[in-house]
Amino acid sequence: MITTTIIGTGNIARHLYRVFSQSDEITVSQVAGRNSAALKYFGETATLLENGTALVKSDIYFLAISDDHIFEVSELVNDSKGVVVHTSGSVPMQVLSNHTNYGVFYPLQTFSKQRSINFKEVPICIEANTEKNRSLLSQLAMSVSDQHYYIDSEQRKSIHLAAVFANNFTNHLYHIAHSICAEQQVPFSILSPLILETAAKVSEAAPYEMQTGPAKRGDLKTQERHLSLLEGQLEKDIYTLLSNAITKTHQNNQP
Ligand SMILES: NC(=O)c1ccc[n+]([C@@H]2O[C@H](COP(=O)([O-])OP(=O)(O)OC[C@H]3O[C@@H](n4cnc5c(N)ncnc54)[C@H](OP(=O)(O)O)[C@@H]3O)[C@@H](O)[C@H]2O)c1
Repeated sequence: MITTTIIGTGNIARHLYRVFSQSDEITVSQVAGRNSAALKYFGETATLLENGTALVKSDIYFLAISDDHIFEVSELVNDSKGVVVHTSGSVPMQVLSNHTNYGVFYPLQTFSKQRSINFKEVPICIEANTEKNRSLLSQLAMSVSDQHYYIDSEQRKSIHLAAVFANNFTNHLYHIAHSICAEQQVPFSILSPLILETAAKVSEAAPYEMQTGPAKRGDLKTQERHLSLLEGQLEKDIYTLLSNAITKTHQNNQP
């Protein structure tokens, strides 16, 4: 049995708590956070973090904390045996090097409190300062997910950058599309089959090969009509920048 302490009460803390609690191989000994309202979700394991709060000794301490505060919160863990890990895509593992045993457990997915996720399908990127710690993190990853990878901090930084393009930026484009539909009193769900097919296609073939649309075809008049429909300068700039990028990428004819 692997014992765990989760520090933080946000999106990742909730998802880790739920999936670890469902596993026969993992125990959540404690969830510690500074927000007493958010702690209610974690039942009996919840502990309010105050000055001098002692953490329960565990095999692994998860810092499910916003990126910029990982280091300061990690100082609360005073255990030379347990492995202290953060869950961030972009923070180097070395931020935890004040500890004897440390690493990273980065679940590559977008997590929100209100949505449940099938953790078995979430790729887990792990890194650790020793072979022994890496093997413990592998064991834990295997008990909750079907895929895990050894990814060092340098690779993880780039994967996180790729994820920002693939998820955060596309989501913002969905937001613009949502507003355009709303202006015409058309439900955003009319675009759902298109969105799902776009995602399905790039799971099977290179995105370069799957590009369609007026910028790829060189239909300048259509692009001008689109630009005249957009009222906000920001949306016009985004449209122009992305259209130019598509045109240039496909003119050069290189993936
Ligand atoms: N959400 C995702 O999709 C996702 C995916 C993969 C990895 N991650 C990584 O997972 C980590 C957590 O992300 P999240 O989405 O769970 O963030 P979140 O929902 O914003 O939660 C952040 C948590 O950190 C706590 N916190 C921040 N500063 C603190 C401090 N000084 N002392 C004590 N607690 C502090 C917050 O407490 P308060 O509520 O009291 O502010 C909150 O519980 C980040 O490193 C993120 O990069 C997130």
